[in-house]
Amino acid sequence: MDRIRLVGGNELKGEIPISGAKNAALPLMISSILTHEPLVLQNVPRLADVKQLERILENHGVDIAVHGRRRGEDEGVGQRMTFHAQDIVDTTAPYELVSKMRASFWVIGPLLAREHNARVSLPGGCAIGTRPVDFFLYGLKQLGAEIDIDEGYVVAKAPKGGLIGGHVILPKVSVGATHTIMMAATLARGTTIIENAAMEPEITNVAECLIAMGAKISGLGTHRLVIEGVSSLHGTTHEVLPDRIETGTYAMATAMAGGDVLLRGGRAEHLQAALDTLANCGVHISQEASGIRVRRNGNGIQPVDIETDPFPGFPTDLQAQFMALMTTSSGVSHIRETIFENRYMHVAELARFGADIKVEGQLATVTGVPALKGAQVMATDLRASVSLVIAGLAARGETVVNRIYHLDRGFERLEEKLGRCGAEIERLAG
Ligand code: UD1
Repeated sequence: MDRIRLVGGNELKGEIPISGAKNAALPLMISSILTHEPLVLQNVPRLADVKQLERILENHGVDIAVHGRRRGEDEGVGQRMTFHAQDIVDTTAPYELVSKMRASFWVIGPLLAREHNARVSLPGGCAIGTRPVDFFLYGLKQLGAEIDIDEGYVVAKAPKGGLIGGHVILPKVSVGATHTIMMAATLARGTTIIENAAMEPEITNVAECLIAMGAKISGLGTHRLVIEGVSSLHGTTHEVLPDRIETGTYAMATAMAGGDVLLRGGRAEHLQAALDTLANCGVHISQEASGIRVRRNGNGIQPVDIETDPFPGFPTDLQAQFMALMTTSSGVSHIRETIFENRYMHVAELARFGADIKVEGQLATVTGVPALKGAQVMATDLRASVSLVIAGLAARGETVVNRIYHLDRGFERLEEKLGRCGAEIERLAG
């Protein structure tokens, strides 16, 4: 299994191109199930999760093509891919495929909308909490679906003639349930209202694609989405938005290591809460025409308290990275995780660097230490893994991060992007 070796202490200087957002690319790919016509996606990141979803979509009968780079395009540009679901050949998403990645469960919405039935294995993914699917099932039932659980599978059937618009009030903001119900509702008869909908930029990016495919959706960027069903959708070409979590991760890496980095393509309005937090820590942040510039020259990091929240709050997907940064702050910081109940698995690994972190329930108290020391550590989940890389960038001596397949699920060419900015980092194969 591949590992990453890094030697801390170098400042980061230069440019990091931000890839397309994994969390938008996955639901956009799934949207292709809704139409017989080809959906062309631009700026798709090269990630293990994208590959995994390709397998799942192919199993349903989606033809997938990856197009070559256009003349003049540099390697930082994401993939251009066509997804063509002319005929759905299988409405079952089997356990072997779905168990590897939670987002693959979301195919249930489009399958049910277009084929009027679906049999989808209960999901897997990062072990960061129980992550049930009750909101999805409730939402699909509100659209008239009949749902059974059979041998680990959710078996869903639409009424005769297809799903019917309905009123869905999500008990808690859920990104996945919002995507799934929104996709399903595009082809339902009548109007669907989703209240307490997630308003993450990825939801808006997907809604814009669905609108370009002929869907009627209003309320974009708010907690209330209104979807008027149409009888069919058509193909379009759509661009995946830049990854705000990758942007925030490299912003924190720069804050941790010191230096001056331009996050090319990063959009401040997609991660304002995290950038404001970094500014409060004493990091200099500026939005420039080509991206976000992050600078820390010489000054230390101030401790700041955060609480994770749905967008536009501080994202849970940046909590581990921020905790790594706080391990060397000049005081005590409190971090409260409110989205997932078990998202502190990085704490034990950060302790191996000499970090001082105490966890009580959802609250972590991080007392800054003067310096971290390099260590052998283990990647546990996707975002936790990258927090170990961030810690290693500032730690004295050598760090080896084991089990980095989690990193490859969500970070494209990580060692190359950091290496080009001066980090001493390499991938060790096998
Ligand atoms: C998505 C993101 C993930 C991010 C998370 C929260 C993708 C591919 N993944 O995950 O990176 O960390 O949003 O921003 O976009 N819940 C239920 N019942 C349900 C559904 C969710 O109780 O049926 C709970 C979850 O356990 C969690 C909370 O709702 O406590 C939010 O989860 P949700 O927003 O659904 O996360 P995902 O869509 O899985």
